[in-house]
Amino acid sequence: MVMTRDALLNQKGGVAKTTTTLHLGGTLAAHGRKTLLVDLDGQGNLTTALKLDRLNPREGLTLARAMLEGCDRAGARSLVRRHSENLYVIPSALDLFTLPRNLHSKRSSEERLTWVLELLEEDGFDHCLVDCRPALDVDTDNVLRWASHVLIPVDVDEFSIEALELLLAQVQTLAAETRMPQPHYRGLVINRIDRPFSGFHQKVYDAIHALPLPVVGEIPLRTAVAEAKNRGQTIAQYEPRSDVARMFRDLAVKAGYLPETTP
Ligand SMILES: Nc1ncnc2c1ncn2[C@@H]1O[C@H](COP(=O)(O)OP(=O)(O)OP(=O)(O)O)[C@@H](O)[C@H]1O
Ligand SMILES: [Mg+2]
Repeated sequence: MVMTRDALLNQKGGVAKTTTTLHLGGTLAAHGRKTLLVDLDGQGNLTTALKLDRLNPREGLTLARAMLEGCDRAGARSLVRRHSENLYVIPSALDLFTLPRNLHSKRSSEERLTWVLELLEEDGFDHCLVDCRPALDVDTDNVLRWASHVLIPVDVDEFSIEALELLLAQVQTLAAETRMPQPHYRGLVINRIDRPFSGFHQKVYDAIHALPLPVVGEIPLRTAVAEAKNRGQTIAQYEPRSDVARMFRDLAVKAGYLPETTP
């Protein structure tokens, strides 16, 4: 199986990009898929949610340095940490904060993530999911250049709709400028759903469903999500029988990662 290259992207903050990356990745790992998560956000929320250490730019290679200076296959492999069975992570590092500024002066600045992650293509990963920071900048251009698939987390907020329009325009512009093929959109995941809705939230929710991309997941607001994070676990590990774990499984099926017959 060829590794899927998935970008979890939305420049709107707090729409559960990190949470979706974490628990979708955990669900895939629990179903026997060797999964690599990449924390491309200097905030490092994905890294700390799994209780992994950030990479230290003073002690060795980081993803940002590998992108700026280049690296070989052994270097790319040295970035990867094992979290648990089938679940691997390239942790965040503080130098990701200055990466966009430093990338601007480089040639082929939007190709750099591809150069690094392609070195891991022979390591038997089934899926690679990249958690992006809330921005549309040269680092997100890098993710779009690399990605074969894009999954867009949104929340029930009218700004989510505006953000999506901007994001689609950015992808189109980049595709035209670099003559890259458009990535395949898996669709939207609506996160932090808190029912019953007010009249206003119902309207926004309906508007999200009317957008041109399909809704492939609906994840409710649950304390188990915070509790799993507190333990450094994915929801598939912490509460595999919970409704929210099932919703992530449904997302994995509907978005096309797992077969329809998944239990
Ligand atoms: N289904 C859920 N139930 C409860 N809490 C949730 C759920 N999804 C996300 N959260 C919480 O909402 C907050 C924002 O989520 P998250 O950090 O995943 O968003 P993000 O889009 O990655 O944010 P940023 O734009 O800052 O990177 C976090 O504290 C997270 O634990
Ligand atoms: Mg995040």
